[in-house]
Amino acid sequence: MYMYAVTILVSLVFLHILLKLWFPYFVPEFLYVLKTIAFGLRMSKYKKKQPFYTILDCFLDAVKRTPSKPFIIFENRTYTYMDVDKQSNKVARALRTHTSLKEGDTVALFLGNEPCYAWVWLGLAKIGCATALLNCNIRSKSLSQCFSCSGASVLIVAEGLKDVVEEILPALLEQDIAVLILTKGCDTAGMMSLLDKFEEASDEPVSAALRSAVSRKSPALYVYTSGTTGLPKAAVITQERLWAATFIQSLAGVTSKDIFYINLPLYHSAGFSIGFAGAIEKGLTIVLRRKFSASQFWDDCRKHNVTVIQYIGETMRYLCNTQKKADDRDHRVRLAIGNGIRADVWKEFLNRFGSIQVRELYAATEGNIGFMNLSGKIGAVGRVNYIQRKIFPYLLIKYDTEKEEPVRNSEGLCVEVLKGETGLLVSKITEKAPFNGYARNLQQTEKKRLRNVLQKGDLYFNSGDLLRIDEDNFIYFQDRIGDTFRWKGENVATTEIADILSMVDCIKEANVYGVRVPGHEGRIGMAAITLKEDKQFDCSSTFSHVASYLPAYTWPRFIRIQSQLDITGTYKQKKVKLVDEGFNPAAIEDPLYILNEREKSYIPMTQKTYSLIASGQMQL
Ligand SMILES: *[C@@H]1O[C@H](CO)[C@@H](O)[C@H](O)[C@H]1NC(C)=O
Ligand SMILES: *[C@@H]1O[C@H](CO)[C@@H](O)[C@H](O)[C@H]1NC(C)=O
Repeated sequence: MYMYAVTILVSLVFLHILLKLWFPYFVPEFLYVLKTIAFGLRMSKYKKKQPFYTILDCFLDAVKRTPSKPFIIFENRTYTYMDVDKQSNKVARALRTHTSLKEGDTVALFLGNEPCYAWVWLGLAKIGCATALLNCNIRSKSLSQCFSCSGASVLIVAEGLKDVVEEILPALLEQDIAVLILTKGCDTAGMMSLLDKFEEASDEPVSAALRSAVSRKSPALYVYTSGTTGLPKAAVITQERLWAATFIQSLAGVTSKDIFYINLPLYHSAGFSIGFAGAIEKGLTIVLRRKFSASQFWDDCRKHNVTVIQYIGETMRYLCNTQKKADDRDHRVRLAIGNGIRADVWKEFLNRFGSIQVRELYAATEGNIGFMNLSGKIGAVGRVNYIQRKIFPYLLIKYDTEKEEPVRNSEGLCVEVLKGETGLLVSKITEKAPFNGYARNLQQTEKKRLRNVLQKGDLYFNSGDLLRIDEDNFIYFQDRIGDTFRWKGENVATTEIADILSMVDCIKEANVYGVRVPGHEGRIGMAAITLKEDKQFDCSSTFSHVASYLPAYTWPRFIRIQSQLDITGTYKQKKVKLVDEGFNPAAIEDPLYILNEREKSYIPMTQKTYSLIASGQMQL
């Protein structure tokens, strides 16, 4: 008996060593598969429930289980699960009484990070309404455009954004939109105050009958994305899809005991779906911050015993750029979930702040595929997993960056890249991996669908992202294609910026693109423009136009004046060459300008400025 046990033990140890040697990533990947299967089983159980078991139901169960557990900690105030539940009952009741909202309607929320975000969303869910999460930095034309593409009939506005909404109010009222502001009174005609109505309302639960038709395919959210083309669009996040996003916390190993720090905007999928909705799924405590602050970050973590943080590449870099302190490793953070961290920053982060497990992931708001780095390979977003690929088929195909389209062979089919080569990620659209598209925008939805990839008649989701898979099957994010680029964690749609620029009096045409800056993630905005005949470049009026119509992260930081814009054979504006040429005055003969916030103008770009930027002495 004893010998038998020893034999088993020895074999197990031996097997373990062999696995480590031959398949160093076996254990995390096996866990990944197990978790995926467990999640799939849970989903199929929910699907059978009538009505569908939603994140809201999951929240209500958490309230029953742990009513007095802190749910949201914000600026020294703590709101328990029960507090938030009661607040959301008030929201639901006030909206039923004072508006004509009913199940199936959509409400747009124009609000920054604050606890109210949680109860307004939950309150709307309680009356069966979907919420469109407007980016609180957008203004004027973009705001109107984003609002109307969601199909919302009601707009709820933060107190601090009143002026911004007043600017577009006449157009909203013309379309019969109810505009509600989160204040206790309001003297603007056409706007109704909401806080006073919440306060009057009872905090008793509303009847579940108000949401009885919600199914797994009902929209829960609309999240704006510039996708890879054109103006921002509202990606439809169905109830089922929202569940899938919450799965990321489970996959990363978050538990109900964790304290989760959200400093990313709640209007993005990362903050809302992965952070906030994921927290509900786990029943954990959130520490919510209005805005990311590098100097406050670790103090917040220490003060609240934070164990899990969320990041984007930029936030990790900002943290590494702060002054070194003796207590840098004095915290309880064990896990970081996010995307866009660069390998060098990743290493520096771990060296400086201690052994935190970084779970780098790749996923698009509207996409139907995602990866996560579970084994901790620096720089990778994940690893090819045989089972995942069987269930969710995807591949990397050859892409022609000049023509901006996939390479096709003589039979008209796409060509898979070889190991180690960069290719466009496409993933098969199936019942299990649906692509829900964009609200009221069939044309853009269709653009993300790619047909005849491996066989005539097949259908794939075009991610618009270039990835690479190495010899060891690790997956790396390389770049984003098309008409958008990322800067400071936000997607910037080039055509939208070009539209705004061409409204400036002196500008005839504009071609906008993103250029890389040493020491920064993503790309910064740059525009090549042509001037109207007999016009000079008006530096200060261009600046004031840009500053009043566009959020700062989208501002074209460099302007290059050309006598004519390069056009490709298909009349697409030629960007690849411009992007490569960048903003070095030594390499470009055209007049070159840089935006200067202090002078509220564009000023000529000099070689000295260029060196300061290139050496990292001047931050953009
Ligand atoms: C953090 O943890 C310490 C030690 O367990 C505890 O004394 C302290 O009260 C905790 N702080 C908070 C805000 O929970
Ligand atoms: C995931 O991240 C860790 C660091 O936490 C790294 O060591 C590991 O190799 C990464 N795994 C993959 C598959 O990228």
